[in-house]
Amino acid sequence: MVSVIIPAGGSGERFSKTSSKLFGDCQGHPVIYRTVAAFFTHPKVDEIIVVHPPHNTALFASTLAVFNAKVRYAMGGDTRAQSVKNGVDHVTTSHSHLLIHDAARPNVSHNLINAVMAPPDAHPMVIPAVPVTDTIKQVKNNAIQRTVDRSVLMAVQTPQRIHKATLINAYDDTPSIESFTDEASLMESQGIPGIIVPGDPCNIKVTHPQDLTILNALMTMHH
Ligand code: C5P
Repeated sequence: MVSVIIPAGGSGERFSKTSSKLFGDCQGHPVIYRTVAAFFTHPKVDEIIVVHPPHNTALFASTLAVFNAKVRYAMGGDTRAQSVKNGVDHVTTSHSHLLIHDAARPNVSHNLINAVMAPPDAHPMVIPAVPVTDTIKQVKNNAIQRTVDRSVLMAVQTPQRIHKATLINAYDDTPSIESFTDEASLMESQGIPGIIVPGDPCNIKVTHPQDLTILNALMTMHH
């Protein structure tokens, strides 16, 4: 069994300055509803901590009311890393591992959750990732500096499976967690080994408005 932390505390300004991407329509429900539903219906998940922006408590609570049996709430921080840390403080189970999943990835499948949970418990972190398919350039002020060898690159997704006690130690040993864009980077900075499992190209993150259009098309095909 496992507890899941869903950081949903961002302002999502790349999506819109006025409307939250987490309340955009995803197959007739808000994005955040779909994300929480994917974990709520998974038999190995017994607790879901949704970390929401401080001013949005009532909206989250009413949107996610049907999931009350498993959901708890925590307040978001200024950065994703701080939001997740606040979520970790609200975990009530004693399971050794946590799953941490971006609220903005509603198309997470039970197969992917199973794949992340499958490796032996001894692994302190398990991360889904997909090969990079575009050619990647390093640039500075629009000038091309070099082409990066994409065969050594992977694009990282969530859910990430993290050993809870190791993560808490990493928080204690890291003076400033703000710059880390995921928990794997924080753990890496402490020299903690991680392994990759195959991610799912359909597990896309809603960042820009067109991502929501692509996501709805994908989910229509698969349901
Ligand atoms: O910015 P990015 O898309 O990488 O954010 C990933 C996830 O982290 C989103 O689900 C977002 O809501 C969350 N987040 C958060 N608290 C912040 C910033 C982002 O929970 N302060």
